[in-house]
Amino acid sequence: MTIKIAVLPGDGIGPEIIREALKVLDVLNADYGLNAEWQQAAIGGAGYDDAGDPYPQATRDLARAADAVLLGAVGGPKWEPLDKPLRPEAGLLGIRSDLGLFANYRPTKVHSQLLDASTLKPEIIDGVDIMVVRELVSGVYFGEPRGIFEEGEGENRQRKGVNTMSYTESEVARIARTAFSAARLRSNRVCSIDKANVLDVSELWRETVIHINESEFPDVDLTHMYVDNAAMQLIRNPKQFDVMVTGNLFGDILSDEASMLTGSIGMLPSASIGEAHAMYEPIHGSAPDIAGQNKANPLATILSVSMMLRYSLDKVDLADKLDAAVEAVLDDGLRTLDLAGGSSSVSCTQMGDAVCAKLQAMAV
Ligand code: IPM
Ligand code: MG
Repeated sequence: MTIKIAVLPGDGIGPEIIREALKVLDVLNADYGLNAEWQQAAIGGAGYDDAGDPYPQATRDLARAADAVLLGAVGGPKWEPLDKPLRPEAGLLGIRSDLGLFANYRPTKVHSQLLDASTLKPEIIDGVDIMVVRELVSGVYFGEPRGIFEEGEGENRQRKGVNTMSYTESEVARIARTAFSAARLRSNRVCSIDKANVLDVSELWRETVIHINESEFPDVDLTHMYVDNAAMQLIRNPKQFDVMVTGNLFGDILSDEASMLTGSIGMLPSASIGEAHAMYEPIHGSAPDIAGQNKANPLATILSVSMMLRYSLDKVDLADKLDAAVEAVLDDGLRTLDLAGGSSSVSCTQMGDAVCAKLQAMAV
């Protein structure tokens, strides 16, 4: 059966990094019998330029019909003056919500070849292997009421910005189940991150996570941490963490922080999974400052293809091969600009070609 992939390059470096990921898919088709085909569609700023909508109907149709979605990145200064619903970020939040992608897996694995690329001491980060499980379609990103309102009378009249952080029990329960299931395939430990000392929404979060743990996953070891402490512990002693489960906003922040343990956010893939759909994307953004210059690191996108093979396409063997190909190019000393730290670097295209060459060599 043919596998259908919806490919959404997006903005900035999106098209460049996606191009390299598609080369990898070509090799998997040609040399490993993958049998995948893909169609491209516009999202983010590209969607706005094309169709006046950051998540155009044609893209929606393609994404819904696909076995998996591969996304590059969205956003750029060009679209910042637009009204919020028309901005690139609205396209990204739109597709996550439309496809019901509630569970966002963001693995942070330190590659031993890159120990020196991190700003932290090698002994702190050597061996770090964390899975951040971020709730993706609720919390303060989506809660109502939201908006900028006028209040007060006369000279006290002023505007007030409002967002609402809310979670229902069922929303917490399903992301908790996701995290506990992920932990069973790892070292059976989950740390739930909240702000239950201050926020009611976190109090319910914590109660619900405990309930799911006791009733359905008693074999999984559960701990809790306040988000401010977690931000500190990630830098102080990241090896204490295995699976971290948290809400949308805390997960956004902590996953960027965790990424820097690896030396570059350019290395980190992600999977966003719902009941019926799944989307794979690098966690870095569109990097408008280096867009179109062939300088971007395509490895996060290539590793996102690996996650797609593993989580959506049931091709664990190919995912392992692809991961090994990435390790092999790092072993060879290839570094894109973000990893090079002043030494010589390779281009985005060269990095993609090198991964393809390793894959081809491993196929024979
Ligand atoms: C991410 C990004 C997005 C988010 C932005 C681009 C809307 O930062 O995927 O982490 O906040 O979720
Ligand atoms: Mg983010």
